[in-house]
Amino acid sequence: MHCIKKITSDLTWVGANDRRLAMFEGVYSVPNGVSYNSYLLTDDKTVLFDTVDKAVQHRFFENLKEALGDRPLDYLVIQHMEPDHSAAVKELATLYPQMKIVCNNKTLMMLKQFFDIEFDSRTLIVKENDTLNTGKHTLHFIMAPMVHWPEVMVTYDSTDKILFSADAFGAFGALNGALFADEVDFAKDYMDEARRYYANIVGKYGTQVQALLTKASAVEIDMICPLHGFVWRKNLQDFTTKYALWGSYEPEERGVMIAYASIYGNTENAAEILSSQLRDRGIKTVMFDVSVTPASDIISAAFRWSHIVFASATYNAGIFVTMESLISDLVAHNIQNRTVVLIENGSWAPASGGLMRSKLEKCKNVKVLDNTLRIDSSVKASQLPDIAAMAEAIAADIKPVSADVNRSELPDNPIDFTAMTKLTYGLFVLTARDGDKDNGCIIDTVVQVGDSPIRITAGVRKVNYTLDMILKTGEFNLSILTEGSPFRIFEHFGLQSGKNVDKFAECGYEDRSSNGIRYVPEYTNGVISAKVVGYHDCGTHILFVADVVQAFMLSNEPSVSYQYYAEHIKPKPALSQERTSGFICTVCGYVHESDILPDDFICPLCKQGASAFVKV
Ligand code: FEO
Repeated sequence: MHCIKKITSDLTWVGANDRRLAMFEGVYSVPNGVSYNSYLLTDDKTVLFDTVDKAVQHRFFENLKEALGDRPLDYLVIQHMEPDHSAAVKELATLYPQMKIVCNNKTLMMLKQFFDIEFDSRTLIVKENDTLNTGKHTLHFIMAPMVHWPEVMVTYDSTDKILFSADAFGAFGALNGALFADEVDFAKDYMDEARRYYANIVGKYGTQVQALLTKASAVEIDMICPLHGFVWRKNLQDFTTKYALWGSYEPEERGVMIAYASIYGNTENAAEILSSQLRDRGIKTVMFDVSVTPASDIISAAFRWSHIVFASATYNAGIFVTMESLISDLVAHNIQNRTVVLIENGSWAPASGGLMRSKLEKCKNVKVLDNTLRIDSSVKASQLPDIAAMAEAIAADIKPVSADVNRSELPDNPIDFTAMTKLTYGLFVLTARDGDKDNGCIIDTVVQVGDSPIRITAGVRKVNYTLDMILKTGEFNLSILTEGSPFRIFEHFGLQSGKNVDKFAECGYEDRSSNGIRYVPEYTNGVISAKVVGYHDCGTHILFVADVVQAFMLSNEPSVSYQYYAEHIKPKPALSQERTSGFICTVCGYVHESDILPDDFICPLCKQGASAFVKV
């Protein structure tokens, strides 16, 4: 039975999912399956964008027939000839003999290599910027060589501003009923698999990815339809900024990935001591046994973290086999811009350190720190200071991003006044920093009250930990939230205390303004940094008066107003089945199930007072 999804009134997803595949391309494990996306445009002419893998052809043809109804198929656009998207071309060509194939010359050459039928007479060859009008829609063809094969092209529908992006912006993972990225918590549940897909499938071709991003930036895009994973129709920048980062080979996070190859546990022991020492210095670490964890996961992590430790036993006078394979794979994936530290082990003639170094030094901008640790069979107490020194050297190299800011190079007046116009009676993430501790909370009252100097007021509840930090340091940042902000942002920063959790522990970004204080780069259109010049005690709140020292824009998304938040973002609270009355917190939706609300009642979630509750 068909299983299709409507995307717009005339665009339908007709792809299929495979959850039985063990190894994608025979090498990448896909424990969550994979989707093969195919899209049917039903304009005056009907146009199919790519087909699917042979494993799911049956469902694909059921889907296509359902979406077409009794119409013929006029065009097949082949954007990518890899068989996971082209396996059904021959059968499709037989089923729809009048169908024209739209592709470029390289694709035609590959078509003839893969299939032994005559294509020339039914092929419409396109080049860069050629167009095809299908009635209401105009399709523009944009070449994207090596993202991920040389023949790849993408298609831009300028009528609906849709980019059919081929392998770009794809992700591992079957579509479990949801087609759009905004139907799931993508950042939390799917970003790791998207990164693993990127790093392993197109990670080698960062330059070509950047070239495609440059071309794509020249057109307005409202939706991205990739060949794997979710369709993007909201907050596209959440994913395109990740792609820009990955394509540049810049790390996402400052921290250490430790990969070790250990035969009898002694190399692992050294890696664990080093990881422990790094954690003692406040450095984030992740560890992988390269003989156990699939290489694709480790390659993905290498694209994420700024520093990498390779620890390997010596084996057959070389690098241990699984580590040698991993490093070769990483070099083949063009890993760049990383700092590397090495640990070698051997019971006689340790050699793995030098061999790993010679492989890694071929990579662009990979700095191998000098102090390689040599272990003779096992770690000795006398070597603990060496491991501590190694941890110290890594920690020194992972200096905070704020330390990279050369304050003398800042412009005299680093204030973008456009950012000030984003202030509304809205919602903001207020962030502060006290030593190594970062924290942030949600506030809703920020007002500009002067323009020379540019002065603002910001109200902060006394129970907030961020308030204590600002009282101590006199500095803060405001990230101006947008209408696209999901409720989880408000939950994360507003409904838990920084006294109990590190709100930035798993955030995946490290952005700080010139004052060294974090800001929130996602769902934010502008950032304001301010220095406190006074404050007023307003009972439940402290009203800070502060001068703006920096302001900059991040996007043109509209700021979220309090009204918009209440009507469109905040989940509607529900009473339990048994009760029909109670009091609802108008800020966070917490329901106090009682007929009485004491005057001194404090919301257990967001710490608002009784005045924030209304009876239901
Ligand atoms: Fe999804 Fe490069 O094929």
